[in-house]
Amino acid sequence: MAARWEARADLIVAGTGVAGLTAALRARELGLRVLVVTKAAGDDGNTRWAQGGVAVVMQDQHDPGDSVARHIEDTLTAGAGLCDEAAVSAIISDGPAAVARLRERGAVFDAKPDGLLERTREGGHSAFRVVHAGGDATGAEVERALLKATVDGRVPLLENHVAVDTVKTPLGAVGGLLVLDGNGVPGVLTAPAVLLATGGIGQMYQATSNPSVATGDGLALALRAGALAADVEFIQFHPTVLYTGRGARGRCPLVTEAVRGEGAVLVDATGARVMKGVHPLEDLAPRDVVAAAITRHMAQGPGGVDDHVFLDATSLHDMASRFPTVYAACVSVGVDPAVDPIPVAPAAHFACGGVVSSVDGRTGVTGLYAVGEVARTGLHGANRLASNSLLEGLVCGTRAAEAVASDLALGLIAPARTSDVSLPTAPVADRDLLQRVMSRYAAIGRDAEGLAVVGSVLDVSTVDKQLESRELVEDAALTLAARALIAAAAERTESRGCHVRTDHVERSGSWQRSQLVRLTPTGQPVLADPVLAEGVA
Ligand code: SIN
Repeated sequence: MAARWEARADLIVAGTGVAGLTAALRARELGLRVLVVTKAAGDDGNTRWAQGGVAVVMQDQHDPGDSVARHIEDTLTAGAGLCDEAAVSAIISDGPAAVARLRERGAVFDAKPDGLLERTREGGHSAFRVVHAGGDATGAEVERALLKATVDGRVPLLENHVAVDTVKTPLGAVGGLLVLDGNGVPGVLTAPAVLLATGGIGQMYQATSNPSVATGDGLALALRAGALAADVEFIQFHPTVLYTGRGARGRCPLVTEAVRGEGAVLVDATGARVMKGVHPLEDLAPRDVVAAAITRHMAQGPGGVDDHVFLDATSLHDMASRFPTVYAACVSVGVDPAVDPIPVAPAAHFACGGVVSSVDGRTGVTGLYAVGEVARTGLHGANRLASNSLLEGLVCGTRAAEAVASDLALGLIAPARTSDVSLPTAPVADRDLLQRVMSRYAAIGRDAEGLAVVGSVLDVSTVDKQLESRELVEDAALTLAARALIAAAAERTESRGCHVRTDHVERSGSWQRSQLVRLTPTGQPVLADPVLAEGVA
């Protein structure tokens, strides 16, 4: 089939979050012709929902005794033994420069009268080092500034075009993208470099902090292109999204961890503290610990409440001005945080794993790059440290653009020359059913039996379909991602970070390694040879 239309560039960036736009802007500065493509509107991605901020230790603006080394240490501790130490060190050390560049691009962070930036604290951090904007609207400000810079810099932005598949050169390198426009008309974008910055996968679950676009499209696309994925079993659940009633679906409003950083505490329906005695950092323990503790507490159902707990923020005097987004969400459901404990529950939040990529965005497939949540650089390990993800997007976005420019200059990458492409066919499960079984059996607390149930349900309900619409592309991506997750989670017979096995509750030294996932020629995700994984974790 010949694509109905075609466009060319040096670099195609799929995704308009912090990582993608940072990459696009840097590539443009380096003189590359860049085209940004997104399946929705420019600001529809996950970045704009980020609340807490950017974790960074800036020179002359930090707590006494805080340092980049301590930030690295906290990241490694949160990551529960699975971080790549070199990646952690590279990304965190680059943080101050990355935040400075972002501010030069126009992002305005909250500052004190003396001009120094305000800093807050979140779970797992040993110091106040999270800088923020608009109180709790950091992602919205970052997105605003980067989108404005993109428009001002005349970087073309193709909205409402979903990436379906990569286009390959005769040598098997990626040299373009097959996309569908809003009417399902196929087109080909050719370029020597395709950068995936498509974000996460929260829509694999019934309740999530992620917007509707978070369907794992980039992960599926990369696996189909021959890339490897790693750490896909580690889905981070945010401990506190606003509880809006039994059976919440889709994106639920976040209640940023910074509210706990500034004094709020988790309590149950009887007023008892949830985190007391669970961890030395109590309410500011790493996120996996808090989410798992809430889940256990809810299972006991004190006071007859078994599907949420409460965040008591009544001791905070300035909720409305310090956390305006959270405050507005609470008020919209009739909760006044000044007097009422806020009902909260964990929900799917962040994919710690993803497409195996270097900190420069390079994947194992020539011409294919990945940054941000879709990528697995090794920064997050088994559990991401709060507010490290905007930082990763800023650092790795810049580095990926520089890697593309360098690979191009060295003649290592080339565009595909064909517009003769066909829409792929892939297994597609019913989304509602998939979300239900994933939430029931593959969220916080998994066991072999439940994971097998998910596998069987997907086996009997999956049908091969041609990916001829955005919805089918998304459903196929969710199906593939769920299967990859189930394979990795079933194999990992231990509990570590965000992966909590009720039938293997201890962490095991023999499991201190990442698992790689690849696709078979028939399109099934399988675990790759552990020998391959040795070089990854
Ligand atoms: C939050 O503000 O609690 C979320 C921040 C993050 O996920 O890094």
